[in-house]
Amino acid sequence: MTKSKFIIVAVDGGAAAGKSSTSRALSQRFGLMHVDTGSFYRATTLKLMEVAVSPEDEAAVSDALSKITIGTSISGNTASITVDGRIPNASIRSQAVNEKVSQFAALPKLRTFLLDYQRSQVEVARTNGFSGLIMEGRDIGSVIFPDADLRLYLFADPAKRAQRRAKEGISDSVEKRDQMDSSRKTAPLQCPDGATLLDSSDMTLEEVIEKVSSWIEEIISP
Ligand code: DC
Repeated sequence: MTKSKFIIVAVDGGAAAGKSSTSRALSQRFGLMHVDTGSFYRATTLKLMEVAVSPEDEAAVSDALSKITIGTSISGNTASITVDGRIPNASIRSQAVNEKVSQFAALPKLRTFLLDYQRSQVEVARTNGFSGLIMEGRDIGSVIFPDADLRLYLFADPAKRAQRRAKEGISDSVEKRDQMDSSRKTAPLQCPDGATLLDSSDMTLEEVIEKVSSWIEEIISP
């Protein structure tokens, strides 16, 4: 029996575009390891906030990052970052972190700090027997895995996205974060050339999952 190809799926898009729900469902359907890189930026932002480092003070950011140890913990199909041995809790999704994360994420120092770690998740997925990796974020198809088997860019109407967050009871200015994430110099949020754009504004989550599943099936069994 031939072993099926190990696949990499990159999922990018704005805040609350449906990346996590879609990626989680696809990871279970296809036996992929799910990695949410937004949680990496959130967890490191929280750590930097805890040690009272400001995003304006790049030297202090560098110094604080050099003292942080990151690792990976796997539960089911999900790989989580660990910071100094701990899996981040719900506080990485607090309003305080929502307000600061885009500022920290714009810093080349932090992006470089997380770059190799993100790429190393391929090896983690392989050694843990997954059929592939599905990684979501803002620059996965443009910077982290430009050669991914599928580079998906999920778009959704900003008003719909704000409604989704409100329904989850989360205070998050999605448009403001998108504006900051799209306008930064390093690895801005954008639909990279050649990526597959899916506008999910008028689609249900199930429809999005079915659509992307059909694209993944084509890669697995062309
Ligand atoms: O996906 P999220 O909303 O949890 O991401 C939080 C922030 O992290 C987002 O506003 C921008 C940043 N981010 C990034 O710059 N690059 C990524 N690959 C993932 C997230």
